[in-house]
Amino acid sequence: MLLNLLAVAAAYLIGSLSFAVIVSKFYGMADPRSYGSGNPGATNVLRSGKKKAAALTLLGDALKGLVAVLLARALQDTLGLSDATIAAVAVAVLVGHMWPVFFGFKGGKGVATALGVLLALSWPVALICALVWLVMAFGFKVSSLAALAATLVSPIAAYFLMPHGSWVVATMIIALLVLYRHQSNIKNLLGGKEGKIGSKTE
Ligand code: G3P
Repeated sequence: MLLNLLAVAAAYLIGSLSFAVIVSKFYGMADPRSYGSGNPGATNVLRSGKKKAAALTLLGDALKGLVAVLLARALQDTLGLSDATIAAVAVAVLVGHMWPVFFGFKGGKGVATALGVLLALSWPVALICALVWLVMAFGFKVSSLAALAATLVSPIAAYFLMPHGSWVVATMIIALLVLYRHQSNIKNLLGGKEGKIGSKTE
């Protein structure tokens, strides 16, 4: 039981590494929570005009989700972790990303991290979501719209393709969290005010 709890706590701490803030600090840029949408994520870092920093943010946020869940899966037998614990680890990384203990609980919207987590749980589900994101992003050039479409598809793909019920439930919870964090984007989309990818205005 203790090891299961420790795995979930470790996942939360890994998720709490906000790469938007870390990468921006490294490049001497402004904190992404202070401009654009205020979201510490790759889309907002791109609004600074620094493509490399945005790419590194995307990579770091996706990798932390991938690594945390892959690590838990690799140690599952050794530590006696249940499938439900792997599901809880998946959710905990997202909770860490959204409410990071290291950054005043002001985190991101979870799209890149969710992709990394899904990749570790079931690569076909991640592939479907990534394709939906790409098609929508190239079609409409609006990051949040692409993210919302991919998020809505994720639990359906998980239902058909994931091996454990608890992992499907985790994917549903993650989708709900990502939707919850996109409230302002949904309002902007409905009001026709959501900016295009890379545009510096909101
Ligand atoms: O991946 C985040 C994206 O969906 C929305 O980001 O900065 O436009 O609110 P932002």
